[in-house]
Amino acid sequence: MKIKLSSNSPSETIKIGEKIGRNLNKGDIIGLTGKLGAGKTTIIQGITHGLGVESKQYVRSPSFVLIHQYEGRLPIYHMDLYRLKGKEITELGYEEYIFGNGVCIIEWAEKIDGFLRKEWLHINLEYLPEDNKRKITLEGKGKYEKVIGRFKIRLSKKESN
Ligand SMILES: Nc1ncnc2c1ncn2[C@@H]1O[C@H](COP(=O)(O)OP(=O)(O)OP(=O)(O)O)[C@@H](O)[C@H]1O
Ligand SMILES: [Mg+2]
Repeated sequence: MKIKLSSNSPSETIKIGEKIGRNLNKGDIIGLTGKLGAGKTTIIQGITHGLGVESKQYVRSPSFVLIHQYEGRLPIYHMDLYRLKGKEITELGYEEYIFGNGVCIIEWAEKIDGFLRKEWLHINLEYLPEDNKRKITLEGKGKYEKVIGRFKIRLSKKESN
């Protein structure tokens, strides 16, 4: 099941992220895809806020430090695979985080093959012709199909308010 949303501004994208963050549980894996500047880090600011991280300010693309950790109601591991290639990704030891106690959030998730493709919450962001507009697609793979169902209810309830 896919949920297609549109956002008209960074703050709308953050709000969508907050709703997602509020619904995440221990062990959840979120993979983000989308071009440079599409809004992956922006939606992650919302997700971490929804997970209880106090400030939205310090969520940045972890381009130099490969993994950032934040403490919300769960530990959050934020990775950005943009600069990495094949073997370097394996060497990062991301499995340790994926099988850890927290929530794992991965930018440029398309770089990881294998099981991630089967079991994750996929968030794709796309540019639309109008400035500041983005198409955001949520898709639950494997057990995340159910999770996405829950988001749909929440999102549509909120949206109708
Ligand atoms: N509707 C929108 N949603 C999200 N970001 C938007 C939107 N409209 C404009 N923007 C702007 O687009 C940029 C998105 O940057 P962001 O760092 O989140 O992208 P990214 O996908 O993480 O990029 P990178 O691949 O470089 O890590 C920000 O400057 C943000 O203000
Ligand atoms: Mg980014």
